[in-house]
Amino acid sequence: MPETRLLPPDDAGLDAAAEILRAGGRVALPTETVYGLGADARSDAAVAGIFAAKDRPAFNPLIVHVADLAAAERHVELSDTARHLAAAFWPGPLTLVLPLKAQAGIAPLVTAGLPTLAIRVPAHPLAQDLLRRFAGPIAAPSANPSGRVSATEARHVMAGLSGRIEAVLDGGACAVGLESTIIGFGPDGTARLLRPGGIAKEAAEAVLGAPLLPPAPEAGITSPGQLLSHYAPSGRVRLGATEPRAGETMVGFGAVRGDLNLSERGDLAEAAARLFTVFHRLDEMGAKAIAVAPVPEEGLGLAINDRLRRAAAPRD
Ligand code: TXA
Ligand code: MG
Repeated sequence: MPETRLLPPDDAGLDAAAEILRAGGRVALPTETVYGLGADARSDAAVAGIFAAKDRPAFNPLIVHVADLAAAERHVELSDTARHLAAAFWPGPLTLVLPLKAQAGIAPLVTAGLPTLAIRVPAHPLAQDLLRRFAGPIAAPSANPSGRVSATEARHVMAGLSGRIEAVLDGGACAVGLESTIIGFGPDGTARLLRPGGIAKEAAEAVLGAPLLPPAPEAGITSPGQLLSHYAPSGRVRLGATEPRAGETMVGFGAVRGDLNLSERGDLAEAAARLFTVFHRLDEMGAKAIAVAPVPEEGLGLAINDRLRRAAAPRD
């Protein structure tokens, strides 16, 4: 494997990225949520390269990124409910899990054998530009080694995957900073929240005109990627802390101040955007014990607390 190239966010960089994808290689690309590790979703060999670079368990299916709704229609069946959600939130941080079309042309490795495909239209202008230059679907999980914190800056990708992938397209820091909200549908068509993320649950419910249900346990439409010890910094994490204990590095929110702060003004969007950067920073500081201030369980707080609980979960 040659050295991982850091591609600039200009015409030459985008052309080089598209060329690498066409040749079956891997390019980490910025999206508005987190950096994705992209490869041609139509090629099993290219997609296998993603799993290899991440050391990812092969049973874990990937999200496919397309430029617009018309491109999505080529790969999946959209119900009326799915169409409403797509109209409201695409391009943007929403992933829909939908029945895969028979002639979709998506490599079987992408869906890990499931009859459904997770698909989204990213809003980031560089992701949009790359999708149009490449003119095909890009499979992209978050651009981090499996089990590690997602990357929200090009240098995070480099720190985790340098020497394992062909290139990183540098788009600066990701605006949302948390992965997309994943919504799937039960056998009766009801929308179910498979992963809280960059679109607040309340915002999706307002469009649906109905509550978003938790995943149906019997239907098997869970997000298998949600292993408990995901999203973790290396240090031990204690949640709901109002002050640090001896030896702990404190992460503050709002009135609870820390060595690092998610948002001093208690703003959930700012906290979401900073969360993974703070995780990376804790690793850089060598923090062994971490205390995190309480974050309200509303709006983007749902997704923030979801990632924090995973970070605090027992490790194996
Ligand atoms: O914001 C995001 O969603 C980022 C950017 C790069 O788009 N991507 C991302 O991908 O977070 P990843 O692979 O780290 O997480 C994808 C999640 C996993 O939990 C996976 O199990 C779930 O999507 N997933 C994929 N296909 C699925 C399917 N057919 N049914 C249920 N869950 C699925
Ligand atoms: Mg991930």
